[in-house]
Amino acid sequence: MNIFTIVGSIRKESYNMQLAKTMQERYKDNLNIEIADIRSLPFFDQDEEHNPPQVVKDFKKAVANADGVIIITPEYNWSVPGVLKNAIDWTSRVKRVFLGKPVMPLGVSTGMLGTVRAQLHLREILSAPGIQAKVLPPGGNEVLVNFAAQKFDEETGLLVDETTISFLDDKVDKFIEMIKTSK
Ligand SMILES: Cc1cc2nc3c(=O)[nH]c(=O)nc-3n(C[C@H](O)[C@H](O)[C@H](O)COP(=O)(O)O)c2cc1C
Repeated sequence: MNIFTIVGSIRKESYNMQLAKTMQERYKDNLNIEIADIRSLPFFDQDEEHNPPQVVKDFKKAVANADGVIIITPEYNWSVPGVLKNAIDWTSRVKRVFLGKPVMPLGVSTGMLGTVRAQLHLREILSAPGIQAKVLPPGGNEVLVNFAAQKFDEETGLLVDETTISFLDDKVDKFIEMIKTSK
């Protein structure tokens, strides 16, 4: 399965990016995970939506061609970071590439609440008319990694917390099932 992954932090040492890399390595036998470079996307400009820059075209194509999309985001001021919203806005116009697309949202924070507010906003955004993704249902499927500094290995950068890893394994299995039944 081809999975396109969008990370809502462009920070070099981003924990959310570290989770994306952990997933890329851990699930490589079942999932071919490509991680997007959203830093290269320009600000959304409605004047350019019919003929956007090539990086935007490539980004939209990657979403359109993926069997599923994983979105891993920090919480900034109780919502999703602007860089992530900007990337999603590009996908929502002209050719709406998220329509019906299976999406698994996750988040990592350094504090206690594990991006819960950002996740709620993200789910609202993904339901907007221009997006209408098929999001892994809430009610136990939310992967909210809190206290990141205690759960990632400083040297390798990978997620090492056993309880979180086993929870993640279960939710990834659910996402794979959802993709299979969406086809
Ligand atoms: C501008 C900004 C706003 C933030 N707002 C929140 C917030 O609302 N809730 C929260 O739990 N953490 C917040 N944080 C802390 C982030 O959880 C923390 O910086 C985290 O490491 C960011 O993810 P990253 O490591 O992937 O870059 C904020 C950080 C920044 C830089």
